[in-house]
Amino acid sequence: MKRVLITGATSGMGFQLARDYAAEGWQVTACGRDRNKLEQLRAQAADITLCEFDITDLAQTRAALAGKSAELVILCAGTCEYLNHGIVEAEKVHRVMNTNFSGPINCLDALLPQLSPGSRVALVGSTASIVPLPRAEAYGASKAALAYFARSLAQDLTRQQIHISLVLPGFVDTPLTKRNDFSMPMIISVEQASNFIRRGLARGKREVVFPRLFALILRLTSRLPQSWQRRLTQQIAR
Ligand SMILES: NC(=O)c1ccc[n+]([C@@H]2O[C@H](COP(=O)([O-])OP(=O)(O)OC[C@H]3O[C@@H](n4cnc5c(N)ncnc54)[C@H](OP(=O)(O)O)[C@@H]3O)[C@@H](O)[C@H]2O)c1
Repeated sequence: MKRVLITGATSGMGFQLARDYAAEGWQVTACGRDRNKLEQLRAQAADITLCEFDITDLAQTRAALAGKSAELVILCAGTCEYLNHGIVEAEKVHRVMNTNFSGPINCLDALLPQLSPGSRVALVGSTASIVPLPRAEAYGASKAALAYFARSLAQDLTRQQIHISLVLPGFVDTPLTKRNDFSMPMIISVEQASNFIRRGLARGKREVVFPRLFALILRLTSRLPQSWQRRLTQQIAR
């Protein structure tokens, strides 16, 4: 039986992925920091193994993941906090960077030595890293850093036959985006997102980007002069 280990499995995309992989017959290790939420997941899919730790705590992450392995690892845990009126609150920026960048690095530190050749690690970034969006200074920077790290690591792990995939979702309807106070273009359901991710990873894609049209618009926007970029993106996240 194939094994998948998923962080951020207590909510949103990670939760849906855990349920869907379990339904497909995978042996699922669901990681989260909240025991009650993990138990709620297991109530829906009894075979799931639970693993409780906070990804921002390196010692806790190493201890929780010691001896764990899987053919597929999906590092999905993350957060989003927006800046307001360009006020740079260092604590907020550090919180977002710690969760979205240092968190996955802690997981990689703990897991990579235990993976067998042929395994795949998917890091969940965001299409927000494609072009600078207003208010997304912290979030976009954390995901851009993660994307660079993933692409660079993919080169270095080729010889060990550990495959790295970067997942770049657009807006997905989850508890994370329910907090947003603006309309989100081309938002998709969490079930659709899980389908895109599972299909892309099954095909061995290095980058799983969806929805395609949304990503294409962002990519084209990123090639325009900065003044045009600003004009086009200022409606998002306001
Ligand atoms: N939704 C979108 O539109 C969207 C778009 C692009 C990228 N993404 C990315 O996709 C991933 C999943 O997002 P989502 O929308 O599904 O969000 P979500 O519903 O808020 O789920 C986030 C998950 O991450 C976990 N998490 C957060 N901080 C953690 C920590 N320090 N230690 C352990 N677990 C932690 C949460 O645990 P708790 O339940 O304990 O809080 C939760 O399980 C994130 O990386 C997000 O940045 C989301």
